[in-house]
Amino acid sequence: MERIGLILLGPPGSGKGTQAKELEKRFGFVHISTGDLLRKAVREGTPVGKIAEKYMKEGVLVPDDVILNLVNEALSRVTRFVLDGFPRNISQARKLEDIMQKIGGRIKRAILLDVSDDEIVKRLLARRICPSCGRVYNLITSPPKDDNKCDVCGVQLVKRSDDNEETIRNRLAVYRKETAPLIKYYEERGILSRVDASRSPEEVFSSIVKVAELK
Ligand code: AP5
Repeated sequence: MERIGLILLGPPGSGKGTQAKELEKRFGFVHISTGDLLRKAVREGTPVGKIAEKYMKEGVLVPDDVILNLVNEALSRVTRFVLDGFPRNISQARKLEDIMQKIGGRIKRAILLDVSDDEIVKRLLARRICPSCGRVYNLITSPPKDDNKCDVCGVQLVKRSDDNEETIRNRLAVYRKETAPLIKYYEERGILSRVDASRSPEEVFSSIVKVAELK
């Protein structure tokens, strides 16, 4: 069976994780988030986690070889998938093409989630995560029912360590320099779609379904 993938491209906080989870729930796309894979490795203190931790704290990219091992392993087991946070530079995008060729797969669409920097800073400062189940909240747009506790687990919510203003600005600068060139890269391959991600999560999702031609 042909392997089909979608790429969610966009700055930190543009909603890649939020939308990828919805694509998983509603259309069965396996959500592959390199950020989540790295955070798990850091939590578990694996060799990959030990390398990745310092890069993530600064908001800069983890070396390509570390990422490619993770992605190779994750892609070997799936048929329909959505990539969140990968590729992050041109070299990773080229490597993804090689992997796709090897496993007999195709990237159907690269979808750019477009949001302003001010909105991103606002969203990320208000993001809270459940350390137990990983559910993502936002104190402004999707707050928990009970003060700072997960609706599902009842556990105290936490902030991601890279969600402070200085690191957010750094992540945005890294995005502009390293990741934004992928917009042209996928435009030239005729598979880029832009979605206005400053709207509600539901409106953004409808646009994604439309541009990715999902039924
Ligand atoms: P990663 O985890 O990928 O972080 P990121 O790209 O900075 O993206 P975020 O997870 O912060 O945001 P998101 O777009 O998923 O937004 P979300 O849906 O949560 O990477 C972290 C680090 O790992 C990197 O800095 C790097 O060091 C390393 N790394 C990862 N991948 C790598 C790679 N390929 N190569 C090298 N290094 C790599 O939404 C954000 C908030 O907004 C939430 O609170 C949410 O509830 C809210 N929200 C979402 N949508 C909306 C909406 N439409 N309206 C209002 N609020 C919304």
